[in-house]
Amino acid sequence: MDTKSLPSLFNDPGHYVKAFKVFCARSAKFRTYSDWVDGVFSEPVVGKLQATVDGREELRVLGVGSGSGEMDCAMLEKLKRRFPRINNRVVEPSCELLGQYKALAQSKAHELQGVECDFRQQKLEQYEKAGDATKFHFISAVHCMYHLDDYDSSLEYLYNCLIPGGAILVIHLSENSGLCRYRERFPCFQPSDHNYSTSADIRSSLDRRGIPYTQHPYPVRLDITKCFDQASEEGGLLVDFLTNVLNYRKTAPEDMQRTVMECLGSSLCSESKNDGIYLNMDWDAIVISKPQH
Ligand SMILES: C[S@@+](CC[C@H](N)C(=O)[O-])C[C@H]1O[C@@H](n2cnc3c(N)ncnc32)[C@H](O)[C@@H]1O
Repeated sequence: MDTKSLPSLFNDPGHYVKAFKVFCARSAKFRTYSDWVDGVFSEPVVGKLQATVDGREELRVLGVGSGSGEMDCAMLEKLKRRFPRINNRVVEPSCELLGQYKALAQSKAHELQGVECDFRQQKLEQYEKAGDATKFHFISAVHCMYHLDDYDSSLEYLYNCLIPGGAILVIHLSENSGLCRYRERFPCFQPSDHNYSTSADIRSSLDRRGIPYTQHPYPVRLDITKCFDQASEEGGLLVDFLTNVLNYRKTAPEDMQRTVMECLGSSLCSESKNDGIYLNMDWDAIVISKPQH
């Protein structure tokens, strides 16, 4: 399928933000994060750290590709209940997102009392190159491994940044998700600066190195019902987000539109229930632990 002549969504940052907002709302992105932190996070992460880290010690945390910080702040609030003093270093290249993270942390100053933040506007690769020797008790990389130059070597680097007894949380799209299947079917829509690794790739990188981990699958659905309503502006924005094409409905040839929508709506990618169509975006939380000895 020839998509080269189609205008990229990334050429219009304002339109991208609108499309991203629809995606966040229709996938309940941030509610999913807080539900996950409330439900799953405690046992494999907080429990593990508690068993190996002295609670009187300052907990050193590293957030990689933290974006606007919703997930990180939710995790920090949970960690704070067990570890009253936390040093939270954040490595995030986007100035805009880092600004949003700072504002969010500021608005949660009361809940995050005892958390000292150290924001670095950098890519992980730049941070690594700078050669800081700090070791961390807990490192998180939530939906950001797709953006790294070489996730395999970055994983090894992050593992080396852990103290013995520490843990890394990687959240990554499952290889069984409908979104992965859609991307496999239409690689032409994917930007070249992303690697479309799946949770299976992360696990095989760890297996090859004999690094222990546990995996915690989590179901996530994106309501794409409106994508099938030609009159819906919201649906149009969501289609733009999924194809990375600006005004897809106006710019893509009709047969291309049909093929893509057929795939998105099919049981390969989505499930239909209660008059709605839901794209499967299941992710896996992979908790990597570094043995103490
Ligand atoms: C899909 S967003 C995820 C943001 C946040 N963790 C969340 O789940 O809401 C990916 C994040 O990775 C960041 N990123 C991109 N390239 C990166 C790199 N080389 N090193 C670290 N972070 C990177 C982006 O700026 C963005 O904030």
